[in-house]
Amino acid sequence: MHIDILTVLPELLESPFAHSMMKRAREKGLLQIEIHQLRKWAVNAYGQVDDYQYGGGAGMVMMCEPLVKAIEELSLLRKYDEIIYLTPDGERLTQHTANQLSLKANLLLICGHYKGIDERVREYFITKEISIGDYVLSGGELPAAVLVDAIGRLLPGVLNDETSALFDSFQDNLLSPPVYTRPAEYRGWKVPDILLSGDPKRVADWRHDMAIKRTEERRPDILED
Ligand code: ADE
Repeated sequence: MHIDILTVLPELLESPFAHSMMKRAREKGLLQIEIHQLRKWAVNAYGQVDDYQYGGGAGMVMMCEPLVKAIEELSLLRKYDEIIYLTPDGERLTQHTANQLSLKANLLLICGHYKGIDERVREYFITKEISIGDYVLSGGELPAAVLVDAIGRLLPGVLNDETSALFDSFQDNLLSPPVYTRPAEYRGWKVPDILLSGDPKRVADWRHDMAIKRTEERRPDILED
C-alpha cells in the first residue's frame, strides 16, 4: 500500500511512522508513506497556502490553489482509491473503515489546519472525510497518524502473528478480554485458573465470555450494532 500525506507540518509526522510496527511495515516494503510539504505548491514565494475567510470571522482557510495543484500533481503519479480529508465533521473512524481502507492500494491524506480547507476542494476532490473523534485538534496530522496506524497494522505480514489482528477489540464488535502475564500470583492477586489450565477450548470459551461481559458493561452500543 502507498499512502501520500499532504501537510504544512511534515515534522509532526516523522516520529509516528519511524518506530515499532509502522517502521517494520515500511522496512518490509508492505507500506510506503510519503509526506509532502503543501508549501511546495504555495501561491507565492512566502509559502502562502491560506487566506482570510470570505464573510469575515477569525481564522484562516487553506486555499484551493495549493491543494488542487498538489492533488493534481500527485494524481499523475498514482491513481488514488480515496482522497481523504481529516476533519472533525467527517465520518467517525471505526475498525470497519480501517479494515476497508486496508484493502486499498493508494491513498492520499490531506491534513487541514486553522479553520479548515476551502469547501470547493472538499466538493470536487475529496472522496472521503474522516474524524477520529468528537473533539477538535489543532490540525489533521495526529488524526492522519492515527488513521495510518490503524490501517497499516492490518496489512498482511505487518503483524508478527498474522492472526492477532483478528482478535483485536472491535474486530468482531466485541472488546478484547482481559490478559495476564507472569507471575501467576502477584501480591496475592491471582491469574484466573482457566488460563493456566492448558485446555485451549476452555481458554477460548472463557475469553469469548469475558469479551461479551466486558462489551455489555462498557460498550453496549456496539453489541446492539
Ligand atoms: N482535525 C481536527 N480535529 C480532528 C478530528 N477530531 N478528527 C480528524 N481531523 C481533525
